[in-house]
Amino acid sequence: MQRRQFLFLSASSLGGVLLAQCGMNQGSNSSSSSNAAPVLKSENRLLEADLNIGSGTFSFNGHSGNLLSYNQQIPGPRLEASPGDTVRIRATNRLSQPTNIHYHGLHISPQEPADHIFLQLSPGETYTYEFTIPENHHSTTAFYHPHLHGYVADQCFGGLGGTFAVRGKLDEIPEIKQAQEEFVFLKDFDLNWQKTKKGMMLGREGSLATVNGQMDPSFSISKGGLLRLRMVNASISRFYRLQLENHPFYLIATDGGATSVPIEQSELLLSPGERAEVLIQGNQSSGSYRLLNLPYERVGMGMMGNGMMGERKNQGNETETLATLTYSGEEIEPLSLPKQLIPLEELPEPKTVRQFKLNHGMVPGQGMTFLINGQAYDSQRTDTRVFLDTVEDWEIINTGMMDHPFHLHTNRFQVVSRNGQAVENRTWKDTVLVPRGESVRIRIPFRDFVGKTVYHCHILDHEELGMMGIIAMQS
Ligand code: C2O
Ligand code: CU
Ligand code: CU
Repeated sequence: MQRRQFLFLSASSLGGVLLAQCGMNQGSNSSSSSNAAPVLKSENRLLEADLNIGSGTFSFNGHSGNLLSYNQQIPGPRLEASPGDTVRIRATNRLSQPTNIHYHGLHISPQEPADHIFLQLSPGETYTYEFTIPENHHSTTAFYHPHLHGYVADQCFGGLGGTFAVRGKLDEIPEIKQAQEEFVFLKDFDLNWQKTKKGMMLGREGSLATVNGQMDPSFSISKGGLLRLRMVNASISRFYRLQLENHPFYLIATDGGATSVPIEQSELLLSPGERAEVLIQGNQSSGSYRLLNLPYERVGMGMMGNGMMGERKNQGNETETLATLTYSGEEIEPLSLPKQLIPLEELPEPKTVRQFKLNHGMVPGQGMTFLINGQAYDSQRTDTRVFLDTVEDWEIINTGMMDHPFHLHTNRFQVVSRNGQAVENRTWKDTVLVPRGESVRIRIPFRDFVGKTVYHCHILDHEELGMMGIIAMQS
């Protein structure tokens, strides 16, 4: 079978390919070939990793292009740690422009040497990130990617990104332990990304929609078995409206950790920055089933055919096949779904309620800009000040014509209502989709970690065009 995945090519390509090959056997309880990324795990409570951020020629299915990568791997290595572990990451910037690393979804300090997204890692520089995952950290499928304003969207579109899994209580639930685990790192690519500047207003999408750096990889399930898919939308703009033929999803975790019970869903929408974990029961007749990305309109019709939007291609109007699930192996005694997961903590009523209005507009001297409460991002301005030991409700109101996934760093939140209607199954999130014309109310506990960080639209082109604000957390 011809494998369609990114292969690093260059004078030193041998090293890169070898790395890729050893990596494939390292997946802990994964026997299929779909997890192309090598895994770096903590040992004796320490996760030590070197991440070399570089560019190089990658070939994909006979086409090649210059892409950006961590350790010459696309996606970057999967990092894994547990609550209480220390993480030490030596990041070396071998790009010709500055960068840094953000740990999206980890509840850690936003200050140096942890998740400091204002840090500039200059070309040639090495910086050591070091932090401890709090003892009470939730189990989660998080990810890492560059976060230096002005470079974020391009560097992510160019290929940078990797999974960061925190293994904890959710992973200890017996039914979940028995499930076969697979990571699904969703990222689209454009081999000519450096020339693709058009379409930033809409949010750029590449024509190669990959899962773990591969086109249409296969996952296996045994009849009677359970499959746990841990999905990350690491695309800068592409939405995934996922459906697996003949198989419902049982949602067990959203961005901020486990749900309280598995929630049956026939499809699942993941906007950029969102993650989800689902269980799938191998209870259909043997055969192959496609994991589909169904059409989804993320922009109002009024915006279409508008010259300013650039070319509209591949933007959510066709069904794509992302991966294939195949029954294989012996039939086993059917595994059951867990009944209980992690009880959801009830948050107190908020002390403060704030509003954040999302829209875009012409700003004199700046052109078309994406705005929060009428203002574009300004690195010198603190937009929101909060105090520790408080709970706040934020009402995010999208008054524009495009959907915006709203993301907050450092702290997770619960979505309490949408358009004034209480949400039934509350879960922990750090990124929430606010469709055009709608509003979403989130409840955020601020308990630990002081310092400055950001909230923004996770369509990273919109973040670059101004849709970001600074939050200062103080005691
Ligand atoms: Cu994944 Cu501020 O982002
Ligand atoms: Cu983030
Ligand atoms: Cu947006």
